[in-house]
Amino acid sequence: MTSSLIVVTGASGQLGQALSRLWAESPLPEYQFKALERSELDIGQADAAIAALSELKPAVIINAAAYTQVDKAESNNQAAHLVNAQAVGRIAAWSAENDAKLIHISTDFVFDGSRTTPYGVDHQTNPLGVYGVSKLAGEQEIQTLASHCSAIIRTSWLYCEYGNNFVKTMLRLMKDRDQLSVVNDQIGSPTSAHGLASLIFAMILKDSYSGVYHWTDGASISWYEFAQEIQDQAIQEGLLSKAIPISPISTSEYPTPAQRPAYSVLDRSRAMAGFECPVIDWKGQLNLVIKELARE
Ligand SMILES: NC(=O)c1ccc[n+]([C@@H]2O[C@H](COP(=O)([O-])OP(=O)(O)OC[C@H]3O[C@@H](n4cnc5c(N)ncnc54)[C@H](OP(=O)(O)O)[C@@H]3O)[C@@H](O)[C@H]2O)c1
Repeated sequence: MTSSLIVVTGASGQLGQALSRLWAESPLPEYQFKALERSELDIGQADAAIAALSELKPAVIINAAAYTQVDKAESNNQAAHLVNAQAVGRIAAWSAENDAKLIHISTDFVFDGSRTTPYGVDHQTNPLGVYGVSKLAGEQEIQTLASHCSAIIRTSWLYCEYGNNFVKTMLRLMKDRDQLSVVNDQIGSPTSAHGLASLIFAMILKDSYSGVYHWTDGASISWYEFAQEIQDQAIQEGLLSKAIPISPISTSEYPTPAQRPAYSVLDRSRAMAGFECPVIDWKGQLNLVIKELARE
């Protein structure tokens, strides 16, 4: 493939927008970049999507599109599988047949949370819900059809100033409510979509990647601890005028349609060893996003 085009799917999502912003600030030498929203490239419409890829002839596809509504997926199995597994299989097959590279994003929800130390890239998967099952099926499609020309990056608790995420939900609730209760028995790591975008660009720059990588901001905290830090930083940066009491609660006190892993910290050492990208600790990453939201 002589093309030097990078195509991003799911351009209006959190990661899609973070990739576009990073590209605007520091484009990779020798590459062109095209980020396509669902209206421009619907991966669920596989034949049309494949036709579009054949027209564009990308050298690298970053698949940031996904069915990400974890609870809704429980009653929308087919829709989740269509986007997270079947469509991924078609893109993987196209990549292998057309000498393109595929960088695909997956999730900590492929694990069941029974460990108490970080999940390595080879640890046993066992998703607890439809979303995790569909994302794991997408990984398997890639490993079967395009293992020689792809990378899968599992990440967790993704957030940034764009889209919907825990940070923005907490800030809204902290403004509107007198007190909050947040789950304290699910342990994981937040991940800034900007940090993930930096890793992806570092991978493309090195042009040598394969298999599964894990990427997070390196924390091992509960949602409750994350909420406390969000509130502290938001007050410091002038986004909130006062603190409200936050109470730790258990998962059983906050039932959701989809079961979540109690522990999903990912061991990111393979990615850290493989690529040169800026590593900012989780509080520092949060601060960059809080500052950005304060500017808006
Ligand atoms: N968010 C998290 O906490 C989290 C955690 C772990 C892993 N991940 C993974 O990280 C990746 C990026 O997540 P994110 O948080 O950036 O997701 P997001 O904000 O929900 O964005 C997903 C994007 O995919 C698009 N999309 C959905 N169906 C599509 C289709 N058929 N064709 C084309 N685009 C489609 C959506 O389009 P519309 O805007 O039109 O709906 C949306 O823009 C995903 O693979 C996700 O599974 C996310």
